[in-house]
This record gives sequence, structure tokens and C-alpha cells, in this order.
Amino acid sequence: MRRKLVAGNWKMNGGLAANAALIADVKAGLAVVGVQADIAVCVPAPYLAQVQAAVAGSALALGAQDVSAHASGAYTGEVSGAMLAEFACKYVIVGHSERRAYHGESDEVVAAKAVAALKSGLTPIVCVGETLAEREAGQTNAVVGRQIDVVLSVLDAADVEKIVVAYEPVWAIGTGKTATPAMAQDVHAMLRARLAAKNAGAAVRVQILYGGSMKPDNARELLAMSDIDGGLIGGAALKAADFLAIVQAAQGN
Ligand code: 13P
Repeated sequence: MRRKLVAGNWKMNGGLAANAALIADVKAGLAVVGVQADIAVCVPAPYLAQVQAAVAGSALALGAQDVSAHASGAYTGEVSGAMLAEFACKYVIVGHSERRAYHGESDEVVAAKAVAALKSGLTPIVCVGETLAEREAGQTNAVVGRQIDVVLSVLDAADVEKIVVAYEPVWAIGTGKTATPAMAQDVHAMLRARLAAKNAGAAVRVQILYGGSMKPDNARELLAMSDIDGGLIGGAALKAADFLAIVQAAQGN
């Protein structure tokens, strides 16, 4: 059985005081509900040190939201994998649809970022997902399949089990619309088949997360699907009670 992973993506939200309160509330909640899943928060880069200290010694893992494809040098504004590793990041999101849409990240750039993350010992959370127009045109599997295949094409087969995949339909992000459990399961099963084509043994161990308006009231039915191994949570990760409720849904408690 794969362990579930619930990862919060704070996006460009937060502040020193709000972060401290949110982490304190999540830690207090976890002390009550217990921890039987992997749990992480992916925070804006300026808050890595703060949140590293706040989660130290707890079950909460730290993640970042982006990483440079480059190791070091003249790349103004970028943050390297080695820098993230220095702050004890375990995860880094790569290829979020907001970065693909607003920062022009191609499948090839996303693949290079996944490789950069692995080189620094980080677990890339590789995001894939189709737009509404692509879904309506019947292209979901073609688009999502291409996105994951470009990443897999640059990975060593042995590295397949070192990644996490997040299926995030663009039309479900921040919209309150969610994929139905069956719709999500179909794409997750397709993704696992692509992983299996590269490394069959690893594919059964890779956590494939769903993201896109996952909330306390829909998490349980999504997380009950056989290939949905957790959630990448945006808005609901900013409220301790909602995030904790999704953790409980993942843990079945
Ligand atoms: P929402 O949960 O706010 O829809 O965001 C999902 C997401 O983009 C997580 O990376």
C-alpha cells in the first residue's frame, strides 16, 4: 500500500505572523489526529528559514514551489536546488500550471527542473494537467501523457521512484470545480501506466497526487480512488482546520 501524501502549496500567500500561526495550529492539530501520512508545506522561498525552524522536530516536511534548472551562476531571481537543500527542503514543486502559464515554462524546462531537484537530493513534485479547452477537445490523455513523458525521457529509470506526480487539471485550480473521482482516477491510472513503461517496479510505489479545489468536503471520495495517493492543496492549505481535515481524510480518521 502506498502511503498518502498531503502537500500544501501556499503559492504567493503568507507573511511572518500568519505563517507562524498556521504552522502552530497545524502542529497542534496533528498532535490530536496523529500522523499516518506524509505531510508537507511548500512555502514561498523567503519563508524557508522561518518554516524550517517552525517544523523542526515535527512530522511536517518542508517544500519549495520552484527550483532553477541551473546549478549556480548568473540567473537573477532564481533559486538553486542546493540552496533549497540547505534549508532542509524535502520536496519542490516543478511545472505548476501557474509557472507554465505565467512564466512560459515548457515541458523541457520542467523536465530540466525535475533533474536539478533530484541532483540536489530533493523530491520533485511534478505537476501535469490539461486546460478546459484541451479536456473539451478530448485531448486530456494526450496532453497529460506528453507532459509526463517529457519528464520521464530525461530521468534514469532508477530515479522514477524518487519523484511525486501531481495531476492538477488547470480548470479545477482555484475555481471550486473539482474533477470527479472517476475522472481523476482515469488520468491517474494513465499516468501510472506511463511511469510503468519506464520502470514497472517503481511505478507502483510513486505517489500520484490530485490537485485542484481539493477541500474537506470532497477529499474523502477523491482519496478513496485506487490511484489517488494524496493531494496538492492550494486554498485549503491556508486554513489549518481545512488542511487538517484533508490530512484526516487521507489517513481515514
Ligand atoms: P486550489 O486547491 O486552490 O484549487 O489549488 C490547487 C493547486 O494549484 C495546488 O498546487
